[in-house]
Amino acid sequence: MKSVLEFAAAKASGRRISMVTCYDTCLARIMEASAVDSLLVGDSAAMVMHGHPDTLAATVELMAMHTAAVRRGAPTRFLIGDLPFLSFRKGVPAALDAVAALMRAGAQAVKLEGVDGHEDAIAAMVGSGVPVMGHLGLTPQSVHALAGFRVQGKSDEDAARLLSQARRLQQLGCFALVLECVPARLASQVTAELRIPTIGIGAGAGCDGQVLVLQDLLGLSGGFRPKFLRTYLDGFEQLRGAVDRFDRDVKAGTFPGEEESYGS
Ligand code: KIV
Repeated sequence: MKSVLEFAAAKASGRRISMVTCYDTCLARIMEASAVDSLLVGDSAAMVMHGHPDTLAATVELMAMHTAAVRRGAPTRFLIGDLPFLSFRKGVPAALDAVAALMRAGAQAVKLEGVDGHEDAIAAMVGSGVPVMGHLGLTPQSVHALAGFRVQGKSDEDAARLLSQARRLQQLGCFALVLECVPARLASQVTAELRIPTIGIGAGAGCDGQVLVLQDLLGLSGGFRPKFLRTYLDGFEQLRGAVDRFDRDVKAGTFPGEEESYGS
């Protein structure tokens, strides 16, 4: 995908959208060679790349650094940068500064969590010509208020609130909406109501697209196996095995061989 227009076209035609997170140049090069539609430099970088227990440690500077790294590896992919914890809650000028940092680093769009209390920031971004993707359901930046990483929108009241927030994000001009860890039925209902595409993670098959954390789908995240995850590679074991073979060769004196050594 090259632009937000293709997100709208995908929704209109019923073509599903694929998205993965990406944080570094090395994997971005592989994504550039893949068929995946779009890349999200998620604030999950704080967890996946830096080992934090949640996403609260992500800063604008950190997200801009990862965004620039991904852009260097994937020059033609549609790239969305995640606005980190509180960066869009300190008033419109500060929110626009955060957006500028991510866009100057190479993002073509930004994502932010929630809507209540930062409608003015979203409106200012959209009004400034910045494509904005919403994010509802399990919003990890609110992990402490939500008392953990839990499925959201289970009660009728919570489902109704989520639906009304989704409508508001669409009204504010968002071009797409991530739905994270919500019951499949609710995600389908939101998807059917909205003109903009929904991108699900733990939200069932009724969304217009799906996103996964790249390291999770590659099986690189150790024991992290939430119900919604499908792994496409046992990356952890495969990489460990490769490094163990290198270790064995070094210790056996069989690496480097002549073919890996310079002659005189
Ligand atoms: O930060 C992230 O990786 C995300 C996705 C899970 C949607 O927000």
